[in-house]
Amino acid sequence: MNEEIELPEPFKIKMVEKITLHPREKREELIRKAGYNVFMLKAEDVFIDLLTDSGTSAMSDHQWAGMIETTQAYAGSQSYYSLEKTVKDIFGFKHFIPVHQGRAAENILFSTMVSPGSYVPNNTHFDTTEANVLRNKGTPVNLAVEDAYDSAKISPFKGNMDTEKLEDFIREKTPEKIPLIMTTITNNSVGGQPVSMQNIRETSEIARKYGIPFFIDACRFAENCYFIKKREEGYENKTIKEIAREIFSYADGCTFSGKKEALTNIGGMLCTNSEELYQKFKNLLIVIEGFITYGGLACRELEAMARGLYEAIDENYQAYRHRQIEYLAKLLRDAGVPIVEPPGGHAVYVDAKRFLPHIPPEQFPAQALTVQLYIESGVRAAELGSSCFGKIDEKTGEFIPARMELMRLAIPRRTYTDNHLRYVAECLIRLYKKRERIKGLKRVYAPKLLGHFTARFEPVG
Ligand code: F0G
Repeated sequence: MNEEIELPEPFKIKMVEKITLHPREKREELIRKAGYNVFMLKAEDVFIDLLTDSGTSAMSDHQWAGMIETTQAYAGSQSYYSLEKTVKDIFGFKHFIPVHQGRAAENILFSTMVSPGSYVPNNTHFDTTEANVLRNKGTPVNLAVEDAYDSAKISPFKGNMDTEKLEDFIREKTPEKIPLIMTTITNNSVGGQPVSMQNIRETSEIARKYGIPFFIDACRFAENCYFIKKREEGYENKTIKEIAREIFSYADGCTFSGKKEALTNIGGMLCTNSEELYQKFKNLLIVIEGFITYGGLACRELEAMARGLYEAIDENYQAYRHRQIEYLAKLLRDAGVPIVEPPGGHAVYVDAKRFLPHIPPEQFPAQALTVQLYIESGVRAAELGSSCFGKIDEKTGEFIPARMELMRLAIPRRTYTDNHLRYVAECLIRLYKKRERIKGLKRVYAPKLLGHFTARFEPVG
């Protein structure tokens, strides 16, 4: 085999779904009716859906076969045991509970561990993680390295925790006020950036030094492992599973949304090594999700997760996945579109601050760009900027913008071809050429917690 030639997708297509591109006038009308919020659009009105990589993967024939073969049972289903075996093999934790999705794991974790007045440091919380800490009256604290906020800077592990800041923070607040420390891999909120093994090890050492439990938000752990293999010295000859086992060996547990890397449409898990925590998690699970051997899922979904996890750690699959993201990034980069560099593991993030420098943060540049992209192309992206992460100061009512204004083009796994992505790039490049004409938005409605999902906007001026 010629090593120089990049391999294509390590799969072929067995079933397809029709997609439709509405005329531009109809797209303008639809987005207006949706309050200029792409979350409020019907999926059938979207041509190429890059809103999220969560729950949107194409499952394999092997996963579908397992879903049909397994038995459905309230207690003791065989799929629970196959998932348990997989979790022990890939994650290595002593205990796990299945949940219906990642945020249910966060709910159980934080309801058990976070008390009012406590702080949870993370490299960067995702929106649901942040909301679940707040719901339990804790304070989420983001301590990513400064590089994370410089979208143009090329650096291998921009998702890292700033360990110096972390230790200073623990000393300042005292360890008693910190029920747990988290690291999110990859770091979704700052561009899907990876975290290095060294950083995970150092964070774990700090957590142990102060007697604080250390949990990993493992949503995209396999993509993170692949980055470690390619970028961190000493890991080039290790398998993704070996890298994963080392990562998790530094942690006391993890939350996991199966909707990403288990290549399923629903599902999640909460894992721990602590017997005491496991008992608490289990009891809460039964009240709010379901019995321990299904946890809010149909048993067939447990089977799909168990099988999907092995597909996610397949190196050929990861090579294809990373190559496809780089393909989209390169098309945009070559045309001068400002993106977060280097591209992340599950998405290409466009820097709306640099794309639309004439739109101030209080007019939501990343939201305005997301809306315009839909009008221009029928492509749905997601805003990760001030609509998602901006705050209103409770005392002064003042608007505090997010540090970054990003539009995320998330790539569902095994779903779109390079040709779909070429179309996305061409439309976005066309939009970039007329960017001065794009106007900002005024937010007219947003609930307090996770307000971006249902927020409504109007065009400015
Ligand atoms: N943590 C991270 C880092 C995530 O990206 C997500 C979800 C969750 C936790 C929650 O998992 O959706 O299964 O409840 N991220 C999706 C996204 C929604 O589009 O990035 P969930």
